[in-house]
Amino acid sequence: MPDDVRSETGSRWDLLTQTGAGTPMGELLRRYWWPIAGASELAEPGTKPVRLMGEDLVLYKDLAGKIGLLDRHCRHRRADLSYGYVEECGLRCNYHGWLYGVDGRCLAQPYEDVAHPEARLKDEIRIKAYPVEERGGLLWAYLGPEPRPLVPDWEFFTWKNGFRQIVLAEIPCNWFQCQENSIDPVHFEWTHSNWSVRLAGKTGPYTPQHVKVDFAEFEYGFQYKRIRTDTDANDRLWKIGRVCLWPNGLFTGNHVEFRVPVDDENTLSVMWHFSRVPKEQEPYVQNSIPTWQGPIADPATGRWITSHVMNQDFVTWVGQGRVADRSQEYLAPSDRGVVMLRRRFLQDLERLTEGKDPKGIIRDTAKNRAIELPVAERKNFIEGFPRADMMRDPFNRRNLQGYIFQTGQPPEVREAFLAAMGFTEAELEPEPAAFDPLAPAPRRT
Ligand code: FES
Ligand SMILES: [Fe+2]
Repeated sequence: MPDDVRSETGSRWDLLTQTGAGTPMGELLRRYWWPIAGASELAEPGTKPVRLMGEDLVLYKDLAGKIGLLDRHCRHRRADLSYGYVEECGLRCNYHGWLYGVDGRCLAQPYEDVAHPEARLKDEIRIKAYPVEERGGLLWAYLGPEPRPLVPDWEFFTWKNGFRQIVLAEIPCNWFQCQENSIDPVHFEWTHSNWSVRLAGKTGPYTPQHVKVDFAEFEYGFQYKRIRTDTDANDRLWKIGRVCLWPNGLFTGNHVEFRVPVDDENTLSVMWHFSRVPKEQEPYVQNSIPTWQGPIADPATGRWITSHVMNQDFVTWVGQGRVADRSQEYLAPSDRGVVMLRRRFLQDLERLTEGKDPKGIIRDTAKNRAIELPVAERKNFIEGFPRADMMRDPFNRRNLQGYIFQTGQPPEVREAFLAAMGFTEAELEPEPAAFDPLAPAPRRT
């Protein structure tokens, strides 16, 4: 076993898993923008309670369409501002009517303004307020010091002719073990491929086995690469692989998954998914990206749901414990990527103390234009295919037949998807044979 794999012991784990303000990692993570909601959740003026890195906040859109992120509690007597009402400018507390603007200033105190106008008490009042920006149909929050960096303009956010959806889930465990899964190629074989065989009541055949994995750091994360018994060094998943996107994501091409720390024991899973429409459906323009949240537990049994790809991931993450006890791990060579990820964060904690930016921070506007990332199946998403080809290709066909990634897709999202893709449910029957998304596919390389 290589030395750099064996030596992961000690008490560094609190450091890596704590996200609160004032903790080293909490301060590091506050240097990045975090996706906290789908913009479609606030299509109309209103509020949404948000908890991010242990801070209770309220996201709102006022009647003029301005979006703000404020302390959840009113400065007066601490009422919950997510029950406040939005005004032409700002959010008003539903207890005594104090009104706050996006910068956290108190704009009005109805009683005091009338009874004691000379006191101008409101001038002293300010609550916590953070900037919010929209990109890719997601609302992003920044809780760190100024000057704030740019919200990354990833290329996939600019892809055309795609049906996009945003899928949320609340996961009751620390975010860091979720993100370690973003650099873990071997799990796919067991958590998804083979387990799905067993969940279907069969004992085989199992998927081709991983025989080699590798990891390569680049500016915006790590690429992880794999060779299986059915592939070789010419395969797209070895030459390009998948992307562990810094600091919080997994990017596979047709979707990106963000792990967002709610607090040290809870994570918001935010998936942004892109389905390229068939060529016959071009040009397709999607005006609003639907956002939905899926369940992770079966209320009938209290057990975790295992039927969909990300649900399977969730089972493994929560199974590691509320905060995985890494002192009890036994790391193996396949975990080299996990070790690289941990070390990069530890090194960036050092960089931060030296006053430097951590990895992947973008401040140059010229650079922040449709930033390209490695995509193994790039043509799938940019050029697209005629519908007949999509129906023939097991990968595309399976993705048309139903939403495989997370359970609970609302019927209206399914309908909108089928309308965008130009298919009916009837055309997509009957069920195809099982498909293997990692199989060599010359057309997609
Ligand atoms: S508690 Fe908010 S105005 Fe009184
Ligand atoms: Fe997975």
